[in-house]
Amino acid sequence: MPTFTGDEALSYDKRIGKLVPGYELLHHTTAAQLSVMLAQDATILVIGAGTGKEIIELARHNTGWRFIAQDISADMLAIADQNFTNLGLSNRVTIHHGPVNEATYRADAALCLLVLHFVKDNGDKAELLKQIALNLRSGGRLFLADLMLPNTDFERAAQLHYCQKELGLTEVGAQTMRLHFQEAFYPLSDARLHELTSLTGFCSPILYFKALGFSAYSIAKGK
Ligand SMILES: C[S@@+](CC[C@H](N)C(=O)[O-])C[C@H]1O[C@@H](n2cnc3c(N)ncnc32)[C@H](O)[C@@H]1O
Repeated sequence: MPTFTGDEALSYDKRIGKLVPGYELLHHTTAAQLSVMLAQDATILVIGAGTGKEIIELARHNTGWRFIAQDISADMLAIADQNFTNLGLSNRVTIHHGPVNEATYRADAALCLLVLHFVKDNGDKAELLKQIALNLRSGGRLFLADLMLPNTDFERAAQLHYCQKELGLTEVGAQTMRLHFQEAFYPLSDARLHELTSLTGFCSPILYFKALGFSAYSIAKGK
């Protein structure tokens, strides 16, 4: 998978909008749902928080919400931390570097946007979902966005075409993405996602976003 360290971390914010069709819309539609379902004083666990995109977006929607910014990349979290400081958000954010193995938090909602597709389905995806369930209150909801297995044999080509024609991805960038499709992502089928969420204490995923290969689901934690 991409390392999300060093230059890869520093260039992330410039790169990501060229790689994910509807990246802004994904974040906006996620925020809209949280805005109508969460209380003023809610805590939101952000798994794979990266450079802080979700938290910066959500902090604007509700000034009472608090956040846990979790990631396995110290470099991504360092950029997020600096962004939170610049925006005066630091007192509302707990930075968590590394896995959330223990039941450390009792979040009202969890986000895992563009992360699980980098994790192998050899027990590791289930482990990450279990970590999220462990740190989410009963009845809380997970918002999950992932590159899924393609529905047609032309979907991946269409995605690369869109990224180049509409989002400004260069030919070199498209070549890297093509390679990543084969080597860096571990996309799930819809059926396997349903199986994994059921095994890890969640209810059935509800689709709320789809743009070519990327889908997003809201998934309630079982009681
Ligand atoms: C494509 S970025 C997404 C960042 C942010 N969620 C966004 O929407 O812009 C993927 C992030 O997931 C992190 N990541 C990868 N595997 C992870 C894991 N097993 N647990 C937590 N974070 C992980 C990476 O370090 C990186 O910051």
